[in-house]
Amino acid sequence: MSSLEQDRGQTLEQTPARPRRRLLLLGSTGQLGWELQRTLAPSGQVVALDYPEIDFTHPNSLTAVVEKLQPDVILNAVAYTQVDQAEKDPDAARAVNGLAPGILAQAARKAQAVLIHYSTDYVFDGAKGLPYRETDPTNPLGVYAKTKLEGEQAVQQADGAWIILRTSWLYSLRRDDFVLKVLKWSRTQRTLKVAEDQVGSPTWGRMLAEVTAQMLPRASSDLFEWGLEHKGIYHLGGAGCASRFELAEAVLRLDPHPEEQVVREILPARMADFPALAPRPLNTALDCREFFNTFGVQLPEWREALRLALQVG
Ligand SMILES: NC(=O)c1ccc[n+]([C@@H]2O[C@H](COP(=O)([O-])OP(=O)(O)OC[C@H]3O[C@@H](n4cnc5c(N)ncnc54)[C@H](OP(=O)(O)O)[C@@H]3O)[C@@H](O)[C@H]2O)c1
Repeated sequence: MSSLEQDRGQTLEQTPARPRRRLLLLGSTGQLGWELQRTLAPSGQVVALDYPEIDFTHPNSLTAVVEKLQPDVILNAVAYTQVDQAEKDPDAARAVNGLAPGILAQAARKAQAVLIHYSTDYVFDGAKGLPYRETDPTNPLGVYAKTKLEGEQAVQQADGAWIILRTSWLYSLRRDDFVLKVLKWSRTQRTLKVAEDQVGSPTWGRMLAEVTAQMLPRASSDLFEWGLEHKGIYHLGGAGCASRFELAEAVLRLDPHPEEQVVREILPARMADFPALAPRPLNTALDCREFFNTFGVQLPEWREALRLALQVG
């Protein structure tokens, strides 16, 4: 055996076996959950579950799952996200968004697991006129928004090691998100009308998932202690803000297949031109400096993330 091989053998023998972290991901087929399943893989052993294996309308089953798996970290990407449908079915929205997160948070505390729970910019009424900070008062307008705020409150009441990440205008190019809709409309409509009075922080789901993975500490120290130290609500959306109109314009400009577009003009409209069942806040751009100050990572500027999301090949 050469000295190099001996060295290698010794190094391998001397390397202590490090236990892999156990990460429980709930909502693995959703926009965000899909990306989290991939970006979290290097961080530990990911157990990814979705409906019907877990059903947030029967949240007691969540307690059993957490007790059985004894995870170090739980990531909750489950939500009832159909904003208009929630107006017709508030009980279902409340069960999934408002009640289940509290039960999950209690189970997380008992298992000494860090809970990372996602929430929404819609907890605000959009009237501030400036990007929202975590300390700004909430005032949700519709059922989806109200139940998401109830979920935040239930998580906080469980008093474990919880971290709530409020995000905004999520797109993934996998589900029926706004970016994908604009691309589809551009292939079938010559004129697009898009609201210029609704403003938010467009967020690419993959970047949100990557930043989530990066915020977890590298060292396998006591994660629960780390969670207790960092407990809080943080805003985490794409940096900067855009109106729906600006976002749609950027999508058309960055479209990797502009030759497929039939659209000839894009006209500014008002949100009121598109009546919907649920009221939507006008300006919910998020100020994300607290997250950066605490964890040292941030989402890139929304245009840059969109460029990367739409890049092919
Ligand atoms: N989308 C946005 O623009 C946006 C904006 C701000 C904040 N957020 C927040 O970001 C987080 C992720 O949102 P997203 O856009 O990734 O959501 P999404 O694509 O709608 O995914 C939601 C996930 O929840 C699952 N789910 C729904 N009802 C369930 C139930 N009763 N039991 C178990 N699983 C259930 C869905 O499963 P199925 O696929 O099987 O239905 C899906 O996997 C949520 O907290 C959301 O409130 C989203």
